[in-house]
Amino acid sequence: MKTKMTEMFGIEHPIMQGGMHYVGFAELAAAVSNAGGLGTITGLTQKSAADLANEIARCKDMTDKPFAVNLTFLPIVNTPDYPGYIKAIIEGGVKVVETAGRSPEQYMPLLKDAGIKVIHKCTSVRHALKAQKIGCDAVSVDGFECGGHPGEDDIPNMILLPRAAQELEIPFVASGGMANGMSLVAALAMGAEGVNMGTRFIATQEAPVHQNVKDAIVAASELDTRLVMRPLRNTERVMNNAAVERLLEKEKQLGDKLQFTDIIDEVAGVYPKIMENGTMDAGAWSCGMVAGLIHNIPSCAELVNSIMSEAEDIIHQRLSKLG
Ligand SMILES: Cc1cc2nc3c(=O)[nH]c(=O)nc-3n(C[C@H](O)[C@H](O)[C@H](O)COP(=O)(O)O)c2cc1C
Repeated sequence: MKTKMTEMFGIEHPIMQGGMHYVGFAELAAAVSNAGGLGTITGLTQKSAADLANEIARCKDMTDKPFAVNLTFLPIVNTPDYPGYIKAIIEGGVKVVETAGRSPEQYMPLLKDAGIKVIHKCTSVRHALKAQKIGCDAVSVDGFECGGHPGEDDIPNMILLPRAAQELEIPFVASGGMANGMSLVAALAMGAEGVNMGTRFIATQEAPVHQNVKDAIVAASELDTRLVMRPLRNTERVMNNAAVERLLEKEKQLGDKLQFTDIIDEVAGVYPKIMENGTMDAGAWSCGMVAGLIHNIPSCAELVNSIMSEAEDIIHQRLSKLG
């Protein structure tokens, strides 16, 4: 299937794997890219620019297909060495950067001068328009159902995607709640050029996370995520667990007085414990409502191929027969 997304990134199928903290290592990025999609290494999971350079080199050993690096600009106390990370990306020959969190405006000249395609992840039409204005090549539109940070507007993709289609001139991909061929066809119908998936790619053979994480996603239903940190205007959709229930109780009790330090035990430094050690109650970890649609742990190639064949069947069999 050819779309503006496959053309822009030089990939076979319009399916991207979004950056994911402690999940987006070279193994997953390479597996997704080898399956014909666009895999993504998560920049900030690498502790230094040198580590990122090494991770990019590892990925290139595993695939000769294009892959992306995610750079997340979030409110972090000690600002990471973004110029150093960007240097590693440019020197590593990476051709696509997925930016997220804050506007990448400051870094656009560096990225564009190096011929890198920038896809910015946004949770609102106004942020997508800003991304377009500052020269991003594409945006990834992340609906309220997404795993991770859905923003504060709470607009689900059934509204957000057609709104993006009404306003944007640059291509966009649909992110949040995407899992199968139905999602892809729906996304295309709403004006997107493809899909970006997070949670669905964690439950794959190649995702380098503890088996407990994959099993937790398969076991979860669409009712099992919660929104945390809304009082801090840093809302995150996470899988419910004992730590999340504790966190939500603190939010209830402290109301507007809640500060980050009150919930630090439940959110800071928890990813390695969960993703590497499989200690599932160690804290809050991002997970999308789409967990309710995930019932197996295929290889990335099986997943991508099944999405594509289901999508083609829907388009050529079911939809074309509607007359
Ligand atoms: C465990 C996990 C970690 C994530 N970490 C990041 C991150 O570090 N940076 C980022 O831009 N997005 C991050 N995301 C968001 C994903 O890239 C993607 O936008 C989102 O998962 C899409 O929603 P879905 O889970 O419904 O597919 C994360 C998502 C998950 C599930």
